Amino acid sequence: MNRIFSGIQPTGNLHLGNYLGAIRNWVRLQSEYECLYCVVDLHAITIWQSPKELTHNIREVAAGLIAAGLDPRRNLIFNQSQVSAHAELAWIFNCVARMGWLNRMTQFKEKAGKNRENASVGLFAYPNLMAADILLYKATHVPVGEDQKQHLELTRDIAQKFNNDFGVEMFPLVEPLILGAATRVMSLRDGSKKMSKSESSDYSRINMTDDADLIAKKIRKARTDPQPVPSSTEEFDARPEAGNLVGIYAALADLAAEEVCVRHGGSPFSDFKRELADLAVSVLAPIQDEMRRLMASPDEIDAILRKGAEGAREIAAPILTEVQDIVGFVRP
Ligand code: AMP
Ligand code: TRP
Repeated sequence: MNRIFSGIQPTGNLHLGNYLGAIRNWVRLQSEYECLYCVVDLHAITIWQSPKELTHNIREVAAGLIAAGLDPRRNLIFNQSQVSAHAELAWIFNCVARMGWLNRMTQFKEKAGKNRENASVGLFAYPNLMAADILLYKATHVPVGEDQKQHLELTRDIAQKFNNDFGVEMFPLVEPLILGAATRVMSLRDGSKKMSKSESSDYSRINMTDDADLIAKKIRKARTDPQPVPSSTEEFDARPEAGNLVGIYAALADLAAEEVCVRHGGSPFSDFKRELADLAVSVLAPIQDEMRRLMASPDEIDAILRKGAEGAREIAAPILTEVQDIVGFVRP
């Protein structure tokens, strides 16, 4: 049986990269698979989070998922810290994964920066917790943006080593699902950096909470080059900012990037940006309205998370028990 698991960190603004690279695909998958979608608050605190903001962000991300179309009656939507088995399995994986494997993780290098000595131990062990998130449910498919590929390879290595070490066939080898025309949405200010929550300039990203005027302004100010809209995707490598805007348009309009090049190639960017802004607003505005409605009733969000966590615990409990037996722990 196929089971989907994916996670998103409550670390600040949900942005267009999260939506196009992940959330939108999650919405599409809910009709085909059994799905668990997790607001990964344990991952968030690997970097300092102000407690008040963390609480707000957990609810806001949950609201974003629901507003984007994830149906809490069909999926389990929950926050990670409500299911303690995530942390328990992660500890066991801390003892399976090797230092050398984690040393190769590019996301750790990026996030720790030059001052590695000062990074939290949690930030280093982060991919082990991510493997635990997925394998706790024996999930088989994981829809994510391109940046998570390396972490999923590590998840496979952990599953394989656990199976080999204990001579069992406990964990499946998970498959990444990297879908759509915008699997790596880049910054609007610099086509070599991905759009991210942590980039200091707010003009680098479109937040799910930005109003129509701000979205239009950010797209108008987005960096491009002096040439018109590319006529072929072959130009994208040399023109990353132009390629990024075409990719965003394609994903929002549900077209292939090549098709957008055929339709808009040669047009001045000023015209294309106006169309892109209208398109972005038409997709995001209804989601924003629903997010605002939900955020005005936090009890409703909390009830959804509580119910999601109950369902998740039910699936996780026998799997964690099986792991504990395999490892040789004495249980009550
Ligand atoms: P995060 O915000 O890091 O928790 O990411 C949540 C999900 O959004 C993951 O599946 C990421 O791969 C995806 N994601 C984050 N940033 C981008 C981006 N710039 N482009 C595409 N997908 C992204
Ligand atoms: N590491 C992912 C990110 O930063 C979030 C995440 C945590 C995740 N656990 C997961 C994604 C399990 C997929 C599956 O985007």
